[in-house]
Amino acid sequence: MIDDPSMHLKPHSIVSFLVLLLLFHAAAAGGDGDQFRYDGFAGAALDLDGMAVVEPDGKLMLTNVTSQMKGHAFHPAPLRFHHPPPANGTAAAARSFSTAFVFAIAADYVTVSGNGLAFFVAPSKNMSTASPSQFLGLFNSENNGNASNRVFAVELDTILNPEFRDINSNHVGVDVNGLVSVAAEPAGYYDDATGGAFKNLTLFSGAAMQVWVDYDGRAAVVNVTLAPVEVAKPRRPLISVAVDLSPVVNGTAYVGLSSSTGPFHTRHYVLGWSFAMDGPAPPLDYAKLPKMPVVSAKRRSKALDVVIPVAAPLLALAVVAGVSFLVWRRLRYAELREDWEVEFGPHRFAYKDLFVATAGFDGKRLLGVGGFGRVYRGVLPASGTEVAVKIVSHDAKQGMRQFVAEVVSIGRLRHRNVVPLLGYCRRRGELLLVYDYMPNGSLDRWLHDHGAPPLGWAQRLHAVRGVAAGLLYLHEDWEQVVVHRDVKASNVLLDGEMNARLGDFGLARLYDRGADPQTTRVVGTMGYLAPELAHTRRVTPATDVFAFGSFVLEVACGRRPIERGGAMTAAADEDGQLVLADWVLDRWHKGDIAAAADARLCGDYDAKEAALVLKLGLLCSHPVAAARPTMRQVVHFLDGDAPLPEPEPTYRSFTTLAMMQNADGFDSCAVSYPSTATSIDGASSVLSGGR
Ligand SMILES: Nc1ncnc2c1ncn2[C@@H]1O[C@H](COP(=O)(O)OP(=O)(O)OP(=O)(O)O)[C@@H](O)[C@H]1O
Ligand SMILES: *[C@@H]1O[C@H](CO)[C@@H](O)[C@H](O)[C@H]1NC(C)=O
Ligand SMILES: *[C@@H]1O[C@H](CO)[C@@H](O)[C@H](O)[C@H]1NC(C)=O
Ligand SMILES: *[C@@H]1O[C@H](CO)[C@@H](O)[C@H](O)[C@H]1NC(C)=O
Ligand SMILES: *[C@@H]1O[C@H](CO)[C@@H](O)[C@H](O)[C@H]1NC(C)=O
Ligand SMILES: *[C@@H]1O[C@H](CO)[C@@H](O)[C@H](O)[C@H]1NC(C)=O
Ligand SMILES: *[C@@H]1O[C@H](CO)[C@@H](O)[C@H](O)[C@H]1NC(C)=O
Ligand SMILES: *[C@@H]1O[C@H](CO)[C@@H](O)[C@H](O)[C@H]1NC(C)=O
Ligand SMILES: [Mg+2]
Repeated sequence: MIDDPSMHLKPHSIVSFLVLLLLFHAAAAGGDGDQFRYDGFAGAALDLDGMAVVEPDGKLMLTNVTSQMKGHAFHPAPLRFHHPPPANGTAAAARSFSTAFVFAIAADYVTVSGNGLAFFVAPSKNMSTASPSQFLGLFNSENNGNASNRVFAVELDTILNPEFRDINSNHVGVDVNGLVSVAAEPAGYYDDATGGAFKNLTLFSGAAMQVWVDYDGRAAVVNVTLAPVEVAKPRRPLISVAVDLSPVVNGTAYVGLSSSTGPFHTRHYVLGWSFAMDGPAPPLDYAKLPKMPVVSAKRRSKALDVVIPVAAPLLALAVVAGVSFLVWRRLRYAELREDWEVEFGPHRFAYKDLFVATAGFDGKRLLGVGGFGRVYRGVLPASGTEVAVKIVSHDAKQGMRQFVAEVVSIGRLRHRNVVPLLGYCRRRGELLLVYDYMPNGSLDRWLHDHGAPPLGWAQRLHAVRGVAAGLLYLHEDWEQVVVHRDVKASNVLLDGEMNARLGDFGLARLYDRGADPQTTRVVGTMGYLAPELAHTRRVTPATDVFAFGSFVLEVACGRRPIERGGAMTAAADEDGQLVLADWVLDRWHKGDIAAAADARLCGDYDAKEAALVLKLGLLCSHPVAAARPTMRQVVHFLDGDAPLPEPEPTYRSFTTLAMMQNADGFDSCAVSYPSTATSIDGASSVLSGGR
């Protein structure tokens, strides 16, 4: 213990020391019943209720982000608000008092907050009957305005409540026993630095602000002053109102801070608080006050702010749905578009339009499936034009540009016997070609579909003439030589007037180009492929003529160029495969070529015309390219403008001839065809005039 004699104290000294100690302690903890000061609330012995908590750094948080709650903080000891009543029995006047506190309101939404906070004096610390929200945790709908409340408050109100005649949603009010303020002003201060000019303040900006409440008991005047925390107390108070608090505050009463939340999540903080009876409140030590987090400058529209707390999950759902829809739509309607396509722009269709036109490429709209892809019927939404959309699976990058260029240039050619190509569209791995819709479908249906009525001779001849005219146009009459490459009955379409029109030209080339040069794949259709393609792989107008020859025979005979088994056993080879050209040649040997015409015609045809067409078919199907006529000659022959050369059909089979030609060491020029050479010679002289 204490051994040093000099430290021994006399009894009166001990008493003085104890008194001093007591005073010192009272000043520090603010507990002498007259004044207190909290520079931050860490370790402060406040009485808290509701949501109120003291955060570790010393901030008093009256409300957290829970809706419809309240929170209170009381200085624990009651204060004597009245002087002792004078001996002569008159009512005691309330004492002057003064308080100062620093607060900050951190609203989740910048444009709306709820509901505010208040400094108050109440006869009891039991606020259990007070309501949250607009009642600020001070009153309830029953007792609001009742003089028996004995509550005095200064409210910092951030919601406009018309039932309390609030002036706006950002005001300071002096309340006596109820929330209808005896005086209220929009939040702000008279700035001494600018000669007392009024400056607005936004209570829920998140910025720390200080409030001074001064009651002059003698004058019965309440002054309320507000200022940003960094600004010294303005000389002119925001509110100065004559209110006699003597009948309001009880003899002994508690001072507290109250706050409540409504529908909006708002944190109400108090950072420091001081109070003094009969004198100015002790100034706060701002350096010691806990700091508010930096306010983020989020800005949103008020409408959105009101909607979000209510509809946030719905909104999130909608956003997810919307994004999924956009992604889905993007993927669904995604197109491939490259820089070089700019020049072809007018011929480019939007995938979406084609999708809509064909009802999403509905199976019911499927016109047919070919070697390159599917064809759908559709109606363009903008123009109402009926179209056939062909989807070609293709992912070769090379050649696409040239192909598109061809497609577009072909799209420019217009001929009575050519299916108009309207344009194209590209997607990843897909090329879409848009053609005019041909209501009568492809010729092969009319020829081979047993459900279809047999096509009359006149219509067949008309179709052959039409295709000849169309091919001639492609080969010779257009600005550049276009080799069709895939002439066949299924690529001959019949328009509304049963005119034959060539479709699908050039497509084979796309595949050709994409193919590996090492492979011997020849694109085309068996029975229509000129034999020289097997070793030259070079398409020429003459290869088209060969295919045209097969087509002519097919139309005249109503049989496919190559048939397996079936009725033509007489000319069938070992595999049971029948080559139509050889079969017709066989008829010719037997002396009646016209008899090769389709039996379904029941002889209802002109035998001379049939013989001409069949011989023309054979001539065009000649295995030797040089022996075939040009399309111009073909048209002349068909029109009777030039006599068809009449070769003696001494060779028995085109097939063997073709095989000879393709054998090693043979060359189309070196091979001599004794029986046909003479007959072809006549044609050859004409041929030299062609291309
Ligand atoms: N413009 C069109 N108008 C009407 N129908 C069409 C049109 N184009 C094609 N078709 C129909 O679609 C079917 C399939 O055509 P597609 O061109 O895909 O096959 P293909 O001609 O049999 O073979 P390939 O792929 O060798 O051309 C055709 O048989 C025809 O009936
Ligand atoms: C808010 O305070 C209440 C009461 O103390 C508590 O139950 C609630 O969990 C708090 N909410 C949050 C988000 O902190
Ligand atoms: C009572 O005494 C006070 C001072 O103590 C005085 O101001 C007041 O006038 C007196 N009232 C009456 C009715 O005498
Ligand atoms: C507060 O007051 C209510 C009713 O006025 C009462 O039921 C409750 O027990 C009181 N609480 C305390 C802690 O005194
Ligand atoms: C005021 O409150 C008291 C006590 O709660 C009650 O008796 C009285 O009727 C109330 N007055 C009004 C006007 O509601
Ligand atoms: C202050 O706010 C009021 C309305 O709240 C407005 O009319 C006034 O122009 C504002 N003054 C300044 C200086 O912003
Ligand atoms: C209240 O404000 C008025 C007007 O500015 C002033 O005259 C008076 O002294 C103030 N009273 C207190 C207690 O601050
Ligand atoms: C009012 O103060 C007196 C003492 O001045 C006290 O006896 C009484 O209980 C207080 N009233 C309330 C409601 O606290
Ligand atoms: Mg086709």
